[in-house]
Amino acid sequence: MKEDREGIVIAATDQAIADAGQMIRDGRLVAFPTETVYGLGADATNGEAIARVFEAKGRPRFNPLIVHVPDLSVARRLGHFSPAAESLARSFWPGALTLVVPLAEGSSVSPLATAGLDTVAIRVPAHPVAQALLRAAGRPLAAPSANRSGHVSPTTARHVAEDLGDKVAVILDGGPAWHGLESTIVRATDQTLALLRPGAVPASDIEALAGTPLERGLKVDTARPDAPGQLASHYAPRAHLRLDATEALPGEALLAFGPACPSTGMVINLSPSGDLVMAAANLFSSLRAFDVAGMERVAVMPIPPRGLGEAINDRLVRAAAPRG
Ligand code: TXA
Ligand code: MG
Repeated sequence: MKEDREGIVIAATDQAIADAGQMIRDGRLVAFPTETVYGLGADATNGEAIARVFEAKGRPRFNPLIVHVPDLSVARRLGHFSPAAESLARSFWPGALTLVVPLAEGSSVSPLATAGLDTVAIRVPAHPVAQALLRAAGRPLAAPSANRSGHVSPTTARHVAEDLGDKVAVILDGGPAWHGLESTIVRATDQTLALLRPGAVPASDIEALAGTPLERGLKVDTARPDAPGQLASHYAPRAHLRLDATEALPGEALLAFGPACPSTGMVINLSPSGDLVMAAANLFSSLRAFDVAGMERVAVMPIPPRGLGEAINDRLVRAAAPRG
């Protein structure tokens, strides 16, 4: 089937990029080159499109994604930039630096892209094809590296075709990625600057500019511990969740899935039609909605463990685990 999959690779001409921009607005997935590695792009404001990214990568859990924008002025609409973040952005953008900043009020980024966090990872890529795609789409692009989960990051269009050729609308070929190494991730959510992932921009360059050492030893992916209270980088709902519920008990709200919805209290249905892509898209906003409504206990109907159901269940199990 290799021939078929390679047909999805298209030279990144102006026309191909314009067409790809339309595909993004239609909620489809477009793989594209950046200066670091190839990204698997989706409209960052469209939860269902982002759910398809996780489905395509075969990720068993929802990690927050990097949101790509064309310039700092667009970035400021999505995130809040402290003076320190602003000065890093001015020095290193466009380029291979990702900044984790507090989510801006009214930010259009989908909660699935941030895994429900109140922070967002933002980057302005320098690669001309990435820049042109962002402008053609007119949307911020949530884009993890365009490999299947557990594989190495792709540095050519061909690598992407081998991993994800049957999952994307198109792969824009812009030649090999320049660095072949992911972006450096720095958290700038408070007064301190912390290195979350070493990458293509040397940490020493960032420290030289900032005039202070970066905090280290923090892990970008703290998804390993089992108690969600410890997961500083993952949204943990206040409400207590009771999983595999067939109905809501008195005093419980219900997080439902599918057409049968047995409750008289507050109900949020992740997908009345039983669609796992829609359920994933709605997951984090639903957990937040129960907290906003002040619900203390939520009964959760079973989610089938196939496809995206695995990642949804992973998140729910973490959210339901006892906390200290
Ligand atoms: O070079 C790159 O950064 C590539 C290209 C395509 O831009 N993208 C990339 O994305 O490497 P990905 O999804 O493979 O890695 C993103 C990392 C994850 O480890 C994730 O946990 C972290 O960024 N991240 C995203 N949002 C975050 C947040 N709000 N707080 C902490 N970490 C975050
Ligand atoms: Mg990756």
